[in-house]
Amino acid sequence: MTKTAVTTANPPVRRLADWSAARLRDFADEHGTPLYVVDIERVRENAARLRESFPEAAIDYAVKANARKPVLDAIAAAGFGAECASAGEVVSACEAGFADVRYTAVNPPARDLDRVVEVADEHEITITVGALDTLDALAERDWSGEIYVRVNPGVGAGHHEKVRTGADPKFGIPIDRAAAAVRDADERGFAVEGLHAHAGSGILETEDLAAHRTLVERMSDLADEIAAANIDLDTVSVGGGFGVPYRDTEAPLDVDALARATREAFSADARLGIEPGRYLVADAGVLLAEVTTVKPTPETTVVGVDAGMTTLARPALYDAFHEIRSLAAAAEDHETVAATVAGPVCESGDVLGRDRELPAPERGDFLAVGNAGAYGYEMASTYNSRPRPAIVALDGDGGELCVRRETIADLGRLER
Ligand code: LLP
Repeated sequence: MTKTAVTTANPPVRRLADWSAARLRDFADEHGTPLYVVDIERVRENAARLRESFPEAAIDYAVKANARKPVLDAIAAAGFGAECASAGEVVSACEAGFADVRYTAVNPPARDLDRVVEVADEHEITITVGALDTLDALAERDWSGEIYVRVNPGVGAGHHEKVRTGADPKFGIPIDRAAAAVRDADERGFAVEGLHAHAGSGILETEDLAAHRTLVERMSDLADEIAAANIDLDTVSVGGGFGVPYRDTEAPLDVDALARATREAFSADARLGIEPGRYLVADAGVLLAEVTTVKPTPETTVVGVDAGMTTLARPALYDAFHEIRSLAAAAEDHETVAATVAGPVCESGDVLGRDRELPAPERGDFLAVGNAGAYGYEMASTYNSRPRPAIVALDGDGGELCVRRETIADLGRLER
């Protein structure tokens, strides 16, 4: 596809209303629910838009947002690197053919380090180190690959306090100690190739953008200090966290403006690195659920569905908002009701959406939940011994089951 074609057919956001209800209904009929649907072409469009805005940057996809094979294959084919949160993600990224694979070691379990070191015999891997202890753990394993040093920039951002990492002591070496840590690593013979910091996830608001800018400035100053000590840095990664509009009323992130602001604030004599996850995959995915119960109550109409906090954890975990739409054939002819869309788990937090105006639903209708391509399937669990959903991947006109539905028998397979 030519560059122009991508731009013209590449809106900055795909809303839930843009998906074809008939097509989604067909998938739900064919494969059952709950069902994730992920459109690989949309992932490519998001990747192309990001690349146009950041032509000069090293872009590493944060695999944790969606680590399923067709998604990884498409992003690897776009020439991006992979930022991995575990040995499991490192293995998947290598299998998908990412040329640059980096493991961001947050309190790395020994088992993860052992496996990553082993995989590095076959595939070049960089490890991002966020504590001096991790350097010791790597020295014990005779690590001779490249490292990045993760810096705690002292400034956080994001959609919820649980995903603001930038100023949380758990993450990275405090910025005022980072230059010394880099010198120390260099003297110990580690190949320090880069610096890394991540403010948090879901940067969309002005205030978050200001925090991002501060982070970029601080990281640039730190890079200068390190350069003055004659240590050459290849890349300074300023993290991911680029937000998407979960509500129809929210505007999409102006990624060109973000790129300009980043560039203005970035003065390091090194390549700029970014590591977005959500931005590439969120609007490429929807979750389909079937209505199992409709219960009018004095407060609200409870619409029970077969997907819940075990399918999509974000609403329960972060009070996150996801648009919900009825896929019923004549939905627009129905009166609307104020609905609480609730899952099948016996916890009051198991609600996908409250106070939603929905066309009066009936048992057997399908609902679609928007922006479910990021941190959806990846955070699904088997709590309540409820098997995880299936995933259909769309590419062009076709749709293929890429992850089969887990079964109750699968759940027992580890028991001894
Ligand atoms: N880099 C690092 C080091 C990260 O920890 C993360 C996300 C990213 C990049 C990518 O962030 P993104 O561009 O996807 O926002 N489960 C939460 C999000 C947790 C993100 C954790 N780290 C959610 O569903 O909102």
